[in-house]
Amino acid sequence: MTGFAPELLETLRRAERILISTGAGCSAESGLPTFRDPQQGLWAKYRPQDLATPDAFARDPETVWRWYQWRRRVHADVAPNAAHRAIAAMQAQLSGATLVTQNVDRLHELAGSRAVIHLHGSVFRNKCAACGVPMPEVPHDLESPPRCDSCGGLCRPDVVWFGEGLPQEEWRAAAEAAEAADVVLSVGTSSTVYPAAELPVIAKRAGALIVQINPAPTPLDRVAHNLRGPAGEILPKLLAAVWPSGVLLQ
Ligand code: APR
Repeated sequence: MTGFAPELLETLRRAERILISTGAGCSAESGLPTFRDPQQGLWAKYRPQDLATPDAFARDPETVWRWYQWRRRVHADVAPNAAHRAIAAMQAQLSGATLVTQNVDRLHELAGSRAVIHLHGSVFRNKCAACGVPMPEVPHDLESPPRCDSCGGLCRPDVVWFGEGLPQEEWRAAAEAAEAADVVLSVGTSSTVYPAAELPVIAKRAGALIVQINPAPTPLDRVAHNLRGPAGEILPKLLAAVWPSGVLLQ
């Protein structure tokens, strides 16, 4: 007995194309705070409108820069957890597994995942706030944002802030993968931020099975097969149940 519904395991075993969509909850067991946890979440402690919008950066670039420098130091100090490793193993097992993440950390890559589609950018990348040209990573204790060599504009983290559009190529690839998916694994996201939260809806409309891994309810509950619990516990067990002899979990 695996504790998982036999029809779920069968559907996953038969699936050729699986879309894995992850959010901050996937990195929670690595020690990174999520955003909307009522006590520990970043947005419980900080106001997104003061730190994660183009207006906030225009108003007070130093404060925004220093907050992201702090986040980079925190991110640089953590390691992938069992959920990241299970996802990398699933990609190794199934060539039709596409990984899309809202996370700006690099834990999927550190766990060995390939071709990670980052919808909200990366906290370790920089670009010019004025002309958009990519800028090099700088030491994470630099107090003020450097200036762009091309136009003299200020350097900002290459992440997607509220009110900004997603990178087009990444969104197109994610939406295509949702359209083509047999199964969507939605892991550790509150499914409240759009357009990323649209992906399981696109897939469901195209006939996919939606599986949600989250210790708490989200708006996706209505259309998903819900697996309640931490991703780092559930994902390795699910993989071992689907592919008892296949997956090598490092
Ligand atoms: N395993 C699985 N899920 C978990 C775990 C865990 N160990 N711990 C927490 N969760 C769940 C929470 O219950 C919650 O539903 O992860 C979800 C995290 O939700 P959010 O904090 O809203 O994070 P996310 O959905 O990734 O946010 C989306 O919002 O703030 C912006 O750009 C930011 O990418 C982010 C976007």
